[in-house]
Amino acid sequence: MGKVALVTGASGIQGRSVVKKLEASNEWSKVIAVSRSPLDFESKAQRISLDLNDKGGLKSTFNSEKIKDVTHVFHLAFAGDMTNTSRTVAGWLNNLVEELESADNPLEYVFFASGNKYYGVHLAQLPGEPKTPFRETDPRHFPPNFYYDMEDYAIERKKKGAKWNWNTYRPGPIIGYSLGYMNWLMEFAVYATICKEKNLPMRYPGTPQGYRVLFDCADADLLADVQIWLSKNKHAQNTAYNVNNGDVFRFEQLWPKLAEWFGLDVAPPLHIPLTKFMPHHKDLWASIVKKYDLKDIPFEKLVRWDFAEATLNAPSDEFGDATKLRKAGFEGQKMYTEEVFHRWFKELAKMRIIPDYPNLDKKS
Ligand SMILES: NC(=O)c1ccc[n+]([C@@H]2O[C@H](COP(=O)([O-])OP(=O)(O)OC[C@H]3O[C@@H](n4cnc5c(N)ncnc54)[C@H](OP(=O)(O)O)[C@@H]3O)[C@@H](O)[C@H]2O)c1
Repeated sequence: MGKVALVTGASGIQGRSVVKKLEASNEWSKVIAVSRSPLDFESKAQRISLDLNDKGGLKSTFNSEKIKDVTHVFHLAFAGDMTNTSRTVAGWLNNLVEELESADNPLEYVFFASGNKYYGVHLAQLPGEPKTPFRETDPRHFPPNFYYDMEDYAIERKKKGAKWNWNTYRPGPIIGYSLGYMNWLMEFAVYATICKEKNLPMRYPGTPQGYRVLFDCADADLLADVQIWLSKNKHAQNTAYNVNNGDVFRFEQLWPKLAEWFGLDVAPPLHIPLTKFMPHHKDLWASIVKKYDLKDIPFEKLVRWDFAEATLNAPSDEFGDATKLRKAGFEGQKMYTEEVFHRWFKELAKMRIIPDYPNLDKKS
């Protein structure tokens, strides 16, 4: 048997792109997709419904599903909030790897996702913190942070002679489809649609400071390419990388472009407590679903507003220096963020998640 990939979080923003990309390539003899809920996209992957909190369940499921040939793990599962303090989530990686090892899977490579909360963006209160651009060598913040736990686990296992190599990356916000906790694309697309239907300008709902700071972010499809590339390039393994689309931006520049694709004007920013205000528009969303024949996803599942509410008020710049990944030889990271949003807005319209407004067909 050739290379066999096991992807956790397969239904999430990163997992679905990785599963699709692995399946589209003929280099993988099998793809195993792990999540609790079913996949909502076409896939030939072996589906495993597994709760990573249930350690005993891992053993019995691997036995019953005859999981014996896994060579590559792409660990993209996550549950929780913005604090990154969960020891449980950190422990998922250890449990998973150790159960696969104890079932004699010939592991060669383990990837796990991190993000720029490694640098403490979720703790920032004041302009200037944390300092940018983030470099992979920056000192850690005072713990806990489950990214540190996962990375320490990999480093320690490698020191003790693990046969597998590892990588992690540290992107900013990820742009792609999911019904997950952190999703700028869904937050912006649904917010814009509601502004459109209410005939309001698309006002940036964060602080004026957040409108002006520098951000970077990363396309979910690009991140899948990064993972697969790293898994094949031994010289680039056993280390962490910053990664982004290729540019940095201010919402001051990006927001009017996002609004234009919905045929909307913008107005000066005004901080809106999205988690409190958006639930009021549940009935409106139900009528939008009906009017445009959209997929009927309950409004409270469609978008969680916490992520936009936290990030759009950033007191400081949030971007990484992605030179290390370029120096290692990865040739992506050549996109403007507006192109990425535009492609995904069109994809959401195609999926019937948002209306197919005429301006979405305009060029980026
Ligand atoms: N989203 C972003 O913008 C972003 C940016 C930078 C870094 N990150 C980091 O990337 C990592 C993954 O986050 P994400 O946003 O990509 O996740 P996500 O889209 O919310 O997906 C999470 C996945 O984990 C699965 N999952 C949740 N609880 C599980 C459990 N108990 N057992 C098995 N599977 C479970 C979910 O599927 P089921 O619910 O069906 O099980 C889903 O497939 C996190 O560490 C996050 O901090 C995310």
